[in-house]
Amino acid sequence: MTQTIESPRGTDLLSLLSARGTDRQLAGGFGPPPAGLAADTIRLLGGVPADEALPTAELAAAFSAVLSDPATLRYSVLPGIEPLRSWIGEREGVDPDRILVTNGALHALNLIFDAVLEPGDVVAVESPTFPLALREASYYGASFLPVPTSDTGLDLDGFEEQLRGGARPKIFYVIPDFQNPTGSTLSAEARTRLVGLAEQYGFLIVSDNPYKELRFAGTAVDDFDLSSDNVLRANTFSKTLGPGLRLGWIAAPQWLIPALSRIRSTQDQHSSLVTQSAVARLLRSEGAFDRIVDGGRELYRQRSTVLVDELESALPGQLHIVRPEGGIFLWLRASDPSVDLPDVQTRARGLGVDFSLGRYFDPTGPVGYLGSARLGFSNQTVDNLVTGANRFAEAFTQAVR
Ligand SMILES: Cc1ncc(COP(=O)(O)O)c(C=O)c1O
Repeated sequence: MTQTIESPRGTDLLSLLSARGTDRQLAGGFGPPPAGLAADTIRLLGGVPADEALPTAELAAAFSAVLSDPATLRYSVLPGIEPLRSWIGEREGVDPDRILVTNGALHALNLIFDAVLEPGDVVAVESPTFPLALREASYYGASFLPVPTSDTGLDLDGFEEQLRGGARPKIFYVIPDFQNPTGSTLSAEARTRLVGLAEQYGFLIVSDNPYKELRFAGTAVDDFDLSSDNVLRANTFSKTLGPGLRLGWIAAPQWLIPALSRIRSTQDQHSSLVTQSAVARLLRSEGAFDRIVDGGRELYRQRSTVLVDELESALPGQLHIVRPEGGIFLWLRASDPSVDLPDVQTRARGLGVDFSLGRYFDPTGPVGYLGSARLGFSNQTVDNLVTGANRFAEAFTQAVR
């Protein structure tokens, strides 16, 4: 660290920082936001639900109602309020004692990593995967064992061979439904096999499943089996009720609850009682959650269809796209591996459309998946998706010329 920030008494304040507080290299994360993009750039960046799919009126009514009782502004209890944990427990199929309410899925992951990881531990991850989870695990000193995933599934044969060869991950971090970024869903057989490997080789499966509810085609697959002591699920209301709520949960085996609670007790103690109470009130209304989620599913089905159809007709045979069955983004690959997608992105930004390069999802650093990209369709109108796809196609055509 070369920078110094002096206090009036001449101490270099930056020297007060711990190793965790310094700018040491963390794995994962996206590059800095590009400067100088036109204001009307169509951002196919994914990650956020459609504004229209979020229950603003229901939440406004619920917040107003719970705030009529001043007790809602008191401190809450560490694991989360009972009505909310009961609803979540029922959804997850476990006793509410095994549910801890968190400030979203990233916070859930943070608690889990903090409770389990020591510097030097290995976390097995799908490759490609969600870089912000990697960043959190690397903050606790983890390194990564990438396990390739693609439309043909997760390479569990290769992973098992690594285990037999002595690899000893402490955690397998996995996004089972509409994976970020590939949109793929892990088969039931693969889930069962992974639980067997976790029990045999002594690692934990951390299933981060924020897109589970957003299936608009195909058949649902059950999440990882919580009857195993090696399985945790992290989940969130971010993609269904809104990320601004910062409300999620962990469903953990009983033996891990004390450790996770201990970590939480060193932090903020509990999630906002106001938010928990309002969400619990909304969920109490019969069928409300399913109705809200149904609206989102229908919107995302239409939008993904428009984006895929438009890209396929503008660039026939030039892209390999797996048609999403749910979630909020699609993953594509240029059929010609020599196409330079960073160049396509630069041109696309000039034409007024932006997207995420595949390389940001490479757990070994931003070097792989050069011919791939993730395009989000959730929070753009159909008109914008048509225009965005055609601008993308124009940039792509310019780059291969
Ligand atoms: C796989 C995955 N996990 C977690 C999150 C973040 O969830 P939350 O907003 O609840 O922290 C996202 C959001 O992009 C995600 O894609």
